[in-house]
Amino acid sequence: MTHADPRPALTLPDAQTVTEVRHWTDRLFSFRTTRPPSLRFRSGEFVMIGLLKEDGRPLLRAYSIASPSWDDELEFYSIKVQDGPLTSRLQHIQPGDQIILRPKPVGTLVHDALLPGKRLWLFATGTGIAPFASLLRDPETFETYDRVILTHTCREVAELAYGRELIDHLRSDNMMQELLGDLSGKLSYYPTTTREESAKIGRITDLLKDGTLFADLGVADFGPETDRAMVCGSLGLNTDLKAILESHGLREGANSEPGEYVVEKAFVG
Ligand code: A2P
Repeated sequence: MTHADPRPALTLPDAQTVTEVRHWTDRLFSFRTTRPPSLRFRSGEFVMIGLLKEDGRPLLRAYSIASPSWDDELEFYSIKVQDGPLTSRLQHIQPGDQIILRPKPVGTLVHDALLPGKRLWLFATGTGIAPFASLLRDPETFETYDRVILTHTCREVAELAYGRELIDHLRSDNMMQELLGDLSGKLSYYPTTTREESAKIGRITDLLKDGTLFADLGVADFGPETDRAMVCGSLGLNTDLKAILESHGLREGANSEPGEYVVEKAFVG
C-alpha cells in the first residue's frame, strides 16, 4: 500500500513561483514572483496573496503590488512579524517556492481616483511605500504631473533602504530614464526618521504642520486647485494626514468619485 502525500497541492490557477527574495532588515523583506499572464492591474492596486495553512486552506492578506503594471513579474514589500500568522512563514520563502495569488486587483491609490492636478504628493510610512514603488515606475505618473514628491518616514535609517534604492534606480537607470524621461526637477524624495538620527528627523505630520516640509522643498503650501495626494501608512498616520489635507481644502476621492486625495492602510502583519 502506498501512502498519499498528506500535503494538499495548490489550486493551480492561483499558484505563482517566487523568483527573488531580498531581506532589507530583520523586520523587512521584498520578493518577486511570476505574474499570471492574464493579470491586468492599475499601478497602485493590491491583491490577496498568501500560503496554504496546515489544514490545506489558504491564508491570505492584502498586499500592494510594488511593481509597475508593465513589469513581467510582480514585486511585494513586506514586514516580518515573528508571531504574525502569515509573515512568520512568508519571510522564509525562497526562489522556486510557490505562493498563492488571487488575480483580482483592487484599490484606491490609483490615478483614476484623483482629479487632474499639477503636483502629486505621495506620503508613506513603513511598508506603505509599496504602492508608490509601483506608481513611481509608471510613466503615467510623470506624464500626468509636473512635480511628484515622495515622503517616506520610518523609525530607523535602515528601514529607508528600499525606498532609497528605488529612487536611485529611477534617477540613474538607463531603461528607467528612457521610460520616464528626465526626472531632475520633477521628482523629489523626502525621507525622514523618528527614532534614529538622520538628515531629517520627525513625523511627516509635524514637518507639514510647522511648514518645514514646504520650506525644505522650496514649494508653496497645498491648494486644492494644484495639489493631489496619496497616503499610505498606519491608521494613525492616515487619520492625522487626512485632517491636515482636509484643512487645506482637499477632499477625499474614490474610484467612483475622483477627488483631491486618496488613502489606504499599509499592510501591518
Ligand atoms: P513614531 O516613531 O513617532 O511612532 P510604524 O512602524 O509604527 O507604523 O511607524 C512607521 C513610521 O510612521 C514611524 O516613523 C512613526 O513615527 C510614524 N507614525 C506612526 N503614527 C503616526 C502618526 N499618527 N502620524 C505621523 N507619523 C506616524
